[in-house]
Amino acid sequence: MSKRSIEQVDMAPEAQAQAGPSSASVSPAPTPGSGSGSESSEIALLQIPQKRFYRQRAHVNVFVDHELDYPKSPSAMDWSVHYPKYFTSPNAEQQTAATALDTAVTGEGQAKDTKKVEWADVGCGFGGLLMALAPMFPDTLMLGMEIRVSVTKYVNDRIAATRQAQSLLPAESTDRVPGEYQNVSVIRANSQKYMPNFFERGQLSKMFFLFPDPHFKNRKQKARIITPGLLAEYAYVLRPGGILYTVTDVKDLHEWMASHLNAHPLFDPIPTEDLKDDPILEAARTATEEGKKVERNKGDKWVACFRRRDDPVD
Ligand SMILES: C[S@@+](CC[C@H](N)C(=O)[O-])C[C@H]1O[C@@H](n2cnc3c(N)ncnc32)[C@H](O)[C@@H]1O
Repeated sequence: MSKRSIEQVDMAPEAQAQAGPSSASVSPAPTPGSGSGSESSEIALLQIPQKRFYRQRAHVNVFVDHELDYPKSPSAMDWSVHYPKYFTSPNAEQQTAATALDTAVTGEGQAKDTKKVEWADVGCGFGGLLMALAPMFPDTLMLGMEIRVSVTKYVNDRIAATRQAQSLLPAESTDRVPGEYQNVSVIRANSQKYMPNFFERGQLSKMFFLFPDPHFKNRKQKARIITPGLLAEYAYVLRPGGILYTVTDVKDLHEWMASHLNAHPLFDPIPTEDLKDDPILEAARTATEEGKKVERNKGDKWVACFRRRDDPVD
């Protein structure tokens, strides 16, 4: 395997100086001494994982069968593995009645199993968007979908370490963030194949396609993550009124995505002006690892957002 086929870790010097790629503003990497006694040393031992230990080919073939796990239908999906605060495990039935009662509500006394994943970051890469949005919208369950094994593992470890660090912080610590990252998770999935297996019709209110692989060559364009066929699936899982965000630094890809979305009967373009104060679009443009790289290289960013139309009346 050539060296160039391995993802090169491109980190800003300030990010390298930290424990990992996450920026200090979105990742509550605990400061040594923020707790007391053994608790603070325990927290100090926790490190946000470092990207360079999760080497991975830069691209995978999205048409190859990757032996992916996916549920037969959305109702067969066990979300408790991803959001244990919000879902009871299917194995809970085997517990005693008393224990089952304990696990039927969240720490805040809300009934479990009442929420659904609402936002999907499709091709989430190293998870920067999710880590930025999770504390901003602590009541919204958001999921990253990523096809590459090591990259998914990195995001999974990043979320686990961040959750653990949060749980060890003293209640009064200013490093504690709303939701403590319990509302964010990642799944290894080929979103060009199994989207309706994970989500019910109209389940999602936001879908993000940020800096997707450009597949420049003409004969490779069929592998792009936005195509007329795939838009039908995205329209199926996105609810009417929901928003699909695209951001890229490749003008040709931007035009391709916008033209297919404009041509689709279930999407309406949203003038960028209408979203100029939207903190979610701001995060979508700036919080992902690719978005940061483009910024460092002073590249252009092209944005196109679309609202899911109401279903046509029969
Ligand atoms: C260029 S990276 C951008 C990552 C991230 N959105 C960002 O802005 O930093 C594109 C990502 O999409 C992932 N990807 C490509 N095709 C995919 C698919 N069919 N399903 C899930 N992930 C996919 C790739 O593995 C890669 O991590």
